[in-house]
Amino acid sequence: MSEVKAKTPHGEVTIDQLAEIQPGMAKIMKEVGERFADTYFAAKGRNWKLAAYHLNQVRTAFKVAKVTRPKFTEDLNAFDSEYLLPIFKAIQATDWSAFEDAFAKGMAGSDFYHDKTGHPYIRFVLPKERVSLLELGPPEKFTRRERGGKETPSGEGTQ
Ligand code: HEM
Repeated sequence: MSEVKAKTPHGEVTIDQLAEIQPGMAKIMKEVGERFADTYFAAKGRNWKLAAYHLNQVRTAFKVAKVTRPKFTEDLNAFDSEYLLPIFKAIQATDWSAFEDAFAKGMAGSDFYHDKTGHPYIRFVLPKERVSLLELGPPEKFTRRERGGKETPSGEGTQ
C-alpha cells in the first residue's frame, strides 16, 4: 500500500484511497447511456458536430473504464471498432439512414456485451424524446446574435 498522501482541507487521503474512489462501470455506463442517447438526438436534429461531440464523450468514458476496470478493455475496444466506428463514419458523412442503421446495430451490440458481462437484465432503450440543454438543430439555423451575443468569425464559437 502506498504511503503517498494528499492533503485536503478535511484531512489526508492516501493515493490508494484516491484510486479506490475512481468511477466504476455503473457510474461510467450511466454517462455512456446518456451520451449515446444524446448522440442519437443530435444526429436526428441534424446537428452533426454535436452528435460527433457526444459520441466522442462515449469514447472518453470508455477510456476511463479501461483504466479503472482494465478487465473490460478487450470488450470495450471490440465494441468501439465494431459499433462506434460505423456510427462515427455515418456522422462524418452526414448520412441519416446510415446513422440509424449503425446506431440500431450499436444498441444490439450493447445487449450482447451486457449479456456477456453477466448483466442480461440491462437493456439500453432510446427514449421517445430527450430534453436537451443544448440546441439540437443544425448550427446554420441558430446564430449567436439572435440573443444578443457576439458572432465569432466562424459563427460557431461561444458567447
Ligand atoms: C453504447 C453502448 C453501451 C451503452 C449505451 C451502455 C449502457 C449501459 C447502461 C445505461 C448501464 C446501466 C448503468 C446504471 O444505470 O447503473 C450499463 C451497465 C453496464 N455496462 Fe454498458 N453500455 C454500453 C456498452 C457496454 C460495453 C461495450 C460493455 C462491455 C464491457 C458494457 C458493460 C457494462 C457493465 C459491466 C455494466 C454493469 C455495471 C456494473 O458493474 O454495475 N457496456 N451499460
